[in-house]
Amino acid sequence: MSPPVKDTGILVFNKKTVLEDYLVFKWMEIARRAISERGLFAAALSGGRTPAGFFRSLAGGRDESVWRNTHLFMVDERIVPHEDEASNWKMMDENLFSRCPVPRENIHPIPTGCRPEDCAQRYEMDLRTFSFFKAEAAEGGFPVFDLVHLGLGEDGHTASLFPGSPVLKEKSRLAAAVPDASRHDRVTLTYPVINSARNIIFLVMGEDKAGILARVAGKERDLPASAVFPQKGHLFFLADRGAASRLRPGSYESYVE
Ligand code: 6PG
Repeated sequence: MSPPVKDTGILVFNKKTVLEDYLVFKWMEIARRAISERGLFAAALSGGRTPAGFFRSLAGGRDESVWRNTHLFMVDERIVPHEDEASNWKMMDENLFSRCPVPRENIHPIPTGCRPEDCAQRYEMDLRTFSFFKAEAAEGGFPVFDLVHLGLGEDGHTASLFPGSPVLKEKSRLAAAVPDASRHDRVTLTYPVINSARNIIFLVMGEDKAGILARVAGKERDLPASAVFPQKGHLFFLADRGAASRLRPGSYESYVE
């Protein structure tokens, strides 16, 4: 496969498996560059249903030298036990962590066995004390992930940054609690951390996301996903044909395998 060299914009794929394989290719490219430049690769993963296939493809990569130097964090989590079907940890463990040779001590779960605010504070402490991030965080900066993987909800949310939520205005915390009486309380990374990343990749699949992807691609304001914009990094969207079906012609590139 000779994938296009892209670090920004929207790339559309006809087949789900080709899209997932391309994302594995980009992941490994970013990881190898990070390890070569800084000795370590730090990524943050999103939950939900979309990424399960990608995680299983990623787990198939047996490059021990990459996995040994990889640290995996979570973009957000529902505050439920890890056995709960709603747990992002459960989905990530079943599809990635348990299938790939990343050292268990290199996996940084969002704590869940506590009040949401305490879970957020413990996760923030993990982020601040993680040696790889320490320099930036210590200087009042924000941890710089090499890669943040995001999904897109039909209401324009990403991570657990929902429309109208006070956490959208958070400018200093690294992680915050997101009370949600209707479903599950959550903890999420905040915009300052997400937007400090070197690479941000949205993975969007399915016809049901076509409307919202077109609105985000059109930079419609007031959508949480529209406020994801890396200060110094690369932002791109990987979408299947269904999710891309309402994009303006010419606003994306098709990758025809
Ligand atoms: C979560 C995710 C969330 C997700 C979107 C899309 O914990 O739910 O972090 O931001 O990426 O809701 O979810 P689907 O992939 O299930 O459509």
